[in-house]
Amino acid sequence: MKNKMELKFAATLENESLARSSVSIFIAPLNPTLEEIGEIKTIVSEAVSNAIIHGYNFDDEKYVTLKCELNGNLLSIVVIDYGKGIKDVEEAKTPHYSTRPDLERAGMGMTIMETLSDYFEVVSVYGMGSKIIIKKELQHVDSYEGETI
Ligand SMILES: Nc1ncnc2c1ncn2[C@@H]1O[C@H](COP(=O)(O)OP(=O)(O)OP(=O)(O)O)[C@@H](O)[C@H]1O
Ligand SMILES: [Mg+2]
Repeated sequence: MKNKMELKFAATLENESLARSSVSIFIAPLNPTLEEIGEIKTIVSEAVSNAIIHGYNFDDEKYVTLKCELNGNLLSIVVIDYGKGIKDVEEAKTPHYSTRPDLERAGMGMTIMETLSDYFEVVSVYGMGSKIIIKKELQHVDSYEGETI
């Protein structure tokens, strides 16, 4: 299965569910398991909320871009913001590190994304923006295979 999609939306947390749902519909033809759908939705939520909160500081005049690609069972997700950027990516990836504890952020988004992905990369230029690249291999199950009715 080969497919591509791109979605550009305003940087408001209301669009977190739009992004999450779009990706789960995009991968539906692969018949992903409920666990896979849950993991992918979590990854997308974390990346998109980071772009909105940290990248753009909730400025809904700005846009977040979400790109998805399917190559066989390999799902690639890219989330881009042209916001604040990250000064020290390694520090940002450290569990419990957050620059917004005032918003009761746990500092676990990066760690969660890394744990749930097969490949996780953060490309960021301070003052220019950030790009999160995630790859995840899905187990393909043909619907009703082997099932007797
Ligand atoms: N897109 C981004 N632009 C600018 N800074 C970012 C971006 N994504 C992450 N960061 C920085 O990395 C830190 C860690 O991100 P992470 O997602 O792990 O934690 P958090 O968002 O602070 O808390 P949580 O995700 O648990 O609610 C953030 O506090 C922020 O300083
Ligand atoms: Mg976060």
